[in-house]
Amino acid sequence: MARLLKRTQDAPMELKVGGESKWICGCGLSKTQPLCDGTHKTTAKTEERGKLYWYDAQGNRLEVSSDNFPDIVTG
Ligand code: FES
Repeated sequence: MARLLKRTQDAPMELKVGGESKWICGCGLSKTQPLCDGTHKTTAKTEERGKLYWYDAQGNRLEVSSDNFPDIVTG
């Protein structure tokens, strides 16, 4: 089943496990979920607030019209 999820974080969250830092993906784009793989570094700086993006399996970004999803766009 496919789901459309809203992710608003543009950086990972640190989780301490046995004194060791683990970085949990907050952007939703990591290919090593649930861990961050650094992909957020290439997207966070170029995304614009209030816009809705779709990333395909190859990591290509497409801008989606917010008219289709008015309830999931954040300002
Ligand atoms: S927070 Fe998602 S790849 Fe780093």
